[in-house]
Amino acid sequence: MRRPSHIAFALTLAVAGGAAFAQAQSEKDAKYRVGDKYTGYTYADPTTQSMQDDDYVNPGFLWVQEGEKLWSAAEGAAGKSCADCHGKAQESMKAVGALYPKWQEKIGKLENVEQRINQCRADNMKAEPWKWESPALLAMTAYVQLQSRGQPVDVAVEGPVKPHLQNGERLFYMRHGQLDLSCANCHEDNDGKWMRGDHLGQAMANGFPTYRLKEQTLISLQFRLIGCVRDTRAEAYPYGSDEYLDLELYLAHRGKGLPVEAPSVRR
Ligand code: HEC
Ligand code: HEC
Repeated sequence: MRRPSHIAFALTLAVAGGAAFAQAQSEKDAKYRVGDKYTGYTYADPTTQSMQDDDYVNPGFLWVQEGEKLWSAAEGAAGKSCADCHGKAQESMKAVGALYPKWQEKIGKLENVEQRINQCRADNMKAEPWKWESPALLAMTAYVQLQSRGQPVDVAVEGPVKPHLQNGERLFYMRHGQLDLSCANCHEDNDGKWMRGDHLGQAMANGFPTYRLKEQTLISLQFRLIGCVRDTRAEAYPYGSDEYLDLELYLAHRGKGLPVEAPSVRR
């Protein structure tokens, strides 16, 4: 079977790049642009931006509030809460999320924030890990990530992490699925254009977890990546797979210096 080429696909994008770019240059966006790196915020319409800007309106804060409650709730056989060991999250978790995914020497593995939280539950609380995309894991991730808001993304990429970064980059440029599209085909070649009502951006990962208006829920970065891989009509990798971890690392590295904006709001 002949695969439809990505060029044919590109033609289905309504070309509105110029106007979009002008919009992306507005003053309000300034803190979400670093050099030629633009976060998804700068592509969002003004209503969505305002929703993100106001913590009382941003629906992501419903999860943050839940995360704050869970922070001091004792669970598991050790009878401990996060607060028992980590004290105030505002201090102990400050800027922590900006450094993830991060290499964990103890287990010889790269971990994202969700996995790190679950590692603590297993090792330090003797509690069951929270399931991917469960309300509790989303809530705690949002709460932890909020403590890094405004901090520049700064992942380490040397030493044992290097091959993971290289693999993440390879996956970003690798064509996936029946549509034969790479992440770069959409997020670099068509950056600024419109696709079925979505304004294609640069695939920056600094806003996760994100409140998605379309889903009416908070979503993890892994959920988004699963959706993007499926959009190429490929079979998605499972949650927590090495592929997504390496991609997460590469995305963070590409977006180095951009401020963490979790919980962000997107269409
Ligand atoms: C068929 C086009 C397409 C492909 C291929 C694609 N995406 Fe996306 N992606 C989208 C659309 C549309 C959105 C929503 C608009 C936006 O933020 O760009 C999106 C959003 C994202 C976001 C969220 C950005 C934000 O600001 O919240 C990330 C991260 C992302 N994609 C990563 C990837 C990665 C990694 C790949 C490759 C595995 C990929 N995408 C492949 C279409 C695509
Ligand atoms: C019994 C004490 C204890 C409890 C309870 C605990 N942690 Fe931890 N946590 C630690 C220790 C110790 C570390 C340092 C790394 C390690 O485990 O070797 C850590 C590390 C972390 C890190 C990584 C910090 C970094 O700088 O990278 C995060 C995030 C974290 N914990 C979140 C949590 C959350 C969320 C909870 C509650 C669900 C929790 N922890 C419960 C002891 C605890």
